[in-house]
Amino acid sequence: MKSNLKDLYIDFFVSKGHKQIPSAPVVPENDPSVLFNTAGMQPLIPYLMGQKHPYGTRLTDYQKCVRTNDLEAIGDSYHHTFFEMLGNWSLGDYFKKEAITWSFEFLTTVLNIPVERLAVTVFAGNDLIPFDEESYNIWRSLGIPEKRIARTVEDNFWIAGETGPCGSDSEMFYFRSDDEIPEKFDPEDDRWVEIWNDVFMEFEKHEDGSITSLPSKNVDTGMGVERTTAILEGKKDNYASSIWTPVISLIEKLSNLPYEGNEKSMRIIADHLRTAVFILADPAGIKPSNTDQGYILRRLIRRSIRHAKKLNIDINSTWEQEIACVILDMYESYYQELKDNRNVVLEGLSNEKIKFNRTLEKGLREFEKVTKDNEDIDGVTAFHLFDTYGFPIELTCELAEDKGLKVDVEGYKTKFKEHQELSRTASAGKFKGGLAGNGEIETKYHTATHLLNAALKLVVGPDVHQKGSNITSERLRFDFSCDHKLTDEEKQKTEEIVNKWIEEDLPVVVKEMNKDEAIKSGAECMFIEKYPDIVTVYFIGDVSKELCGGPHVKSTKELGHFKITKEEASSQGVRRIKAILE
Ligand code: ALA
Repeated sequence: MKSNLKDLYIDFFVSKGHKQIPSAPVVPENDPSVLFNTAGMQPLIPYLMGQKHPYGTRLTDYQKCVRTNDLEAIGDSYHHTFFEMLGNWSLGDYFKKEAITWSFEFLTTVLNIPVERLAVTVFAGNDLIPFDEESYNIWRSLGIPEKRIARTVEDNFWIAGETGPCGSDSEMFYFRSDDEIPEKFDPEDDRWVEIWNDVFMEFEKHEDGSITSLPSKNVDTGMGVERTTAILEGKKDNYASSIWTPVISLIEKLSNLPYEGNEKSMRIIADHLRTAVFILADPAGIKPSNTDQGYILRRLIRRSIRHAKKLNIDINSTWEQEIACVILDMYESYYQELKDNRNVVLEGLSNEKIKFNRTLEKGLREFEKVTKDNEDIDGVTAFHLFDTYGFPIELTCELAEDKGLKVDVEGYKTKFKEHQELSRTASAGKFKGGLAGNGEIETKYHTATHLLNAALKLVVGPDVHQKGSNITSERLRFDFSCDHKLTDEEKQKTEEIVNKWIEEDLPVVVKEMNKDEAIKSGAECMFIEKYPDIVTVYFIGDVSKELCGGPHVKSTKELGHFKITKEEASSQGVRRIKAILE
């Protein structure tokens, strides 16, 4: 019998007519406004907004998520920078009744959680949207007592950012304590922990703050794997659940210290290295750097090194690779990219460690020097420690805290920003806010990516296949299987073919097809095994045919002029092209 929460969840929703969709990469493919996917719904935004999903109207998945906004909080018993979110979606299909009834059924009959330990919240109502009486009545009919249904406003409305699809929600809580269960549920009482959220996405919030109805009423749900697993295993500390014990045990062995009394450092090492493994393995090909995702990755690895040092682990040994191997082994049957990129992950970690180890000792000496008079650390000094010795700000803060000193973090951020603007490495257009993503220019790059894929097949050979794609408003990036560096001639030829197709003003047409028929006819696609029986296929004239969710331009003339700006190695057997439209 399956006992893994992920498997149980997916099987349950498949049995309710849902199609399983693959986890999207942790780095969003076509949304430059966010660094990482932070919720299961993020890759589905275009479909919640009304676009037709190739898998249908009932979807389920486990999605890799990264949240690094409260990096400092890692070290307690329940924060994680990486987590898996389970979700089920209705795209204009079922609504509150089925969503709530299935949530209840899964919790009580599949996970066997006693009803006495459950409580829920529903939207209380405000000037714009009334009290969610429907959800309230459904919970009551399922046997949740009135006193276990709380009504709130702020906590029962969900949106991913400032704008986009949103709606009222109903959250489910579990009583995680040996104390007697109070009759009345108080969502502020932290013995009640939230385990699942059913969002009824029927609205869109606009930049001016107004709210309009979406083309259809959708359901978006999210359940965190780490927290729910800990609850099911009766653990109050998430890091004591079976998800973490193999990693924590290894850290105990490497440091020769017990978890008890060393929780903070051990949790930081386990959490940060797990996140680093997933970022390094992502098809986006992120490497540690001083900007964007690479900067987060660098901080995660470096902070874990400093905590390993704190636990007296020999940081020049292969400790980080040993830990990474345990993580890779645990997850690779769920995420193919961990299998494919095992060496990329191990090398990425060890290269960054070697780099940091070179300056760590010197940096620690410098830190002692600047704090010898027990003075607080100003922004310029904190930036100097980062710029010259590679000390991420959290590390400086932690070292300062150990000595009872403060750090001017705001001052550091100002210096950091000045520096980034000076070096002009931060790509423009990031953090514009919102979840735009599928703007006009991104749509053009999306279509250009299909043309590039088709052109490479003609120039390099039929074995070229897409390995990854990332689009911003400034460029496309395309990873493909190829065993050699492209010659200048190959690059030029590829450009010429793409530009010829653009000139020919080929129509872009979308068709629904039977999957087998689509594959037989030679349509390109990634993750074939996970596609549903009926798929959408985009045809560009007769030069390109790909399974894809879109969106695309109507005809190729809209694209302008195509130019390759870079060709480089991405990983073993995979090359990367960056290109622009002018
Ligand atoms: N999108 C909702 C959440 O992340 C389900 O909580």
